[in-house]
Amino acid sequence: MEQHKRTVNCGALRKTETGKTVTLNGWVNRKRDHGGITFINLRDRYGITQTVIDEDAPAELSALAAELRNEYCIAVEGLVRSRPDSMINPDMKTGEVEVAVQKLVILNRSEVLPFQVSEEETNANEDLRLKYRYLDLRSAGMQRRIKLRHDTAFAVREWMTSQGFYEIETPTFIRSTPEGARDYLVPSRLYPGKFYALPQSPQLYKQLLMASGFDKYFQIARCYRDEDARGDRQPEFTQIDIEMSFVGRDDVLAMTEGLMGHVFKKTLGFDLPPHFKRLSYEEAMEKYGTDKPDLRFDLPLKDFDPYVESGGFQAFKDALAAGGAVKALVVPADMMKTPYSRKQIEELEAHAKIYKAKGLAWMKVSSGSGAEAAVLEGGVSKFFAREDKMPNAPDNPAAAIIRGLGAGPGDLILIAADAKRKTANTALGAVRSKLGKDLGLTAAPGEKTSGKNGKTNGPFEFVWILDFPLFEYNEEKQGWEAAHHMFSYPQEQYHPSLESDPGSVKGDLYDLVLNGYELASGSIRIHEPELQKRIFSIAGISDEEAETKFGFLTNAFKYGAPPHGGIAPGLDRLVMLMAGETSIKEVIAFPKNSFAQSPMDDCPGEVEQKQLDELHLSVIKPAP
Ligand code: AMO
Ligand code: AMP
Repeated sequence: MEQHKRTVNCGALRKTETGKTVTLNGWVNRKRDHGGITFINLRDRYGITQTVIDEDAPAELSALAAELRNEYCIAVEGLVRSRPDSMINPDMKTGEVEVAVQKLVILNRSEVLPFQVSEEETNANEDLRLKYRYLDLRSAGMQRRIKLRHDTAFAVREWMTSQGFYEIETPTFIRSTPEGARDYLVPSRLYPGKFYALPQSPQLYKQLLMASGFDKYFQIARCYRDEDARGDRQPEFTQIDIEMSFVGRDDVLAMTEGLMGHVFKKTLGFDLPPHFKRLSYEEAMEKYGTDKPDLRFDLPLKDFDPYVESGGFQAFKDALAAGGAVKALVVPADMMKTPYSRKQIEELEAHAKIYKAKGLAWMKVSSGSGAEAAVLEGGVSKFFAREDKMPNAPDNPAAAIIRGLGAGPGDLILIAADAKRKTANTALGAVRSKLGKDLGLTAAPGEKTSGKNGKTNGPFEFVWILDFPLFEYNEEKQGWEAAHHMFSYPQEQYHPSLESDPGSVKGDLYDLVLNGYELASGSIRIHEPELQKRIFSIAGISDEEAETKFGFLTNAFKYGAPPHGGIAPGLDRLVMLMAGETSIKEVIAFPKNSFAQSPMDDCPGEVEQKQLDELHLSVIKPAP
């Protein structure tokens, strides 16, 4: 083998190397036979080089070349030469040269492939891709994304270290503590009936590290949550976990902005703004109908309440009478390639109904006659027309609506009314997201233009969501529970009214949202045991329960724990968004499928009876 070792990789050769004898190692990416002359594109991590077996090559060499199939692993030795001008490939880094093969060694053969290793993306179905993940990972797309992930993790460590953070590992066998999702459990062999839990995040440990005086901690940490997988969720995933002492909210936000700026610059060469937009939870819900708004396009929700009285549409009036809201979305004519048909509007309505809307009312602003003469038509417009007034008279309700909503000729107005303000917002927010996708309003990474084709903003739109409610009411449990986790600090002004009015308490909590995904979550933490006790009690956790579940944390806080706070961006989601993907599986080397299985090693799998016995476990099989 020694003498077949590569002297250069498959992405390295340029015109300046012509005349050199080189050895390449790699995989047969593609072989083309042109009657006597054979081209073999050889691939490795670094690129592709065209190698050639000339017509006048020795017979043994041609015979060996004839044997080659895709994905054979081979070594070739040969002479670097310039390609004839007509054969130069400007799309390949090595496109100006080729290697005239003098020696060929098959290092390993490949059986018939379950799917073609494509240069970009494999079109095999997901389970097949995951079963043969080692082949899937050979595709240029996967190779590029795994590199991006490495570059990102490296840039994170570089930045955090430059800011004085220590990376400290925390255990992955911990005590089971309630943290939102279900725990993965690990049975203890030594202590029958006892279990370790895998951490859902290093939350408690990072807070303990603050009590220990390590005032700037980070960790690229594996987290485990037994919840249903989705595009942006995996049962095991990775967080960039961060905690700092003696800081306020804005210090954590500024540090995170610095981190993101460094990562995007280092890995993508992309300049982020030094500070990100900020919205309160309430503003985000009112303006975008979600706490994860995609700000790659505008399209804000507007208040329709002021126009309800002037019309005769009962559903709107009922919503207001019940203390709810009527919200509108104006879809500008130039965002829709062609005016929306009734069928398309019905699809939007069906989408709104998934989010509990009772309906989706609509009207159109007439087109063609100029803004001044525009009137409302179609849908519920008849309820807002007043025959005793000129169509465009300022006191005609329709004219007031058009003006008030800032609508123009040809625009589509969509309206949701509900007795619950949140439902009106959420349903219309879901319609907004769907329009963003359907109308292609989002710029892709690499696309730096804005303002074209209705794309109003850049490819990466970060926004902080602040001032979340600290508690949520759980209808099922009939009680309050922590909206994020139990350790988030209630904003000072609410301390007197925590118990009397939990619903209105805002916490020092923050989410970082990127392109409509929750990228990171964090908070300033409670460091005083007394305040922590009050939170436990509002969340219905008794003193004993708090003591058994969180005693080790609350005890640590009795010994001079510093004020502290932190955040945790999800590494998988970050890389997914940087790569312009919509599933985190595309940026994880060996992910689980949507059923939390690995088709490659068939996991989860059964274990031997002996192993169960050692763990003092017996399996109760579910009834078929
Ligand atoms: P949270 O639970 O919001 O906060 O998680 C923080 C970030 O982790 C990522 N994330 C996930 N990524 C992939 N698959 C999952 N199943 C998954 N779950 C979460 C998301 C999310 O924004 N300890 C707190 C953080 C803190 O307060 O400092 C925590 O874990 O990107
Ligand atoms: P209806 O009078 O129920 O036939 O509804 C007429 C139109 O109003 C339909 O397009 C419905 O989708 C819409 N609509 C009904 N209720 C609401 C509501 N609460 N909010 C918005 N639109 C509604």
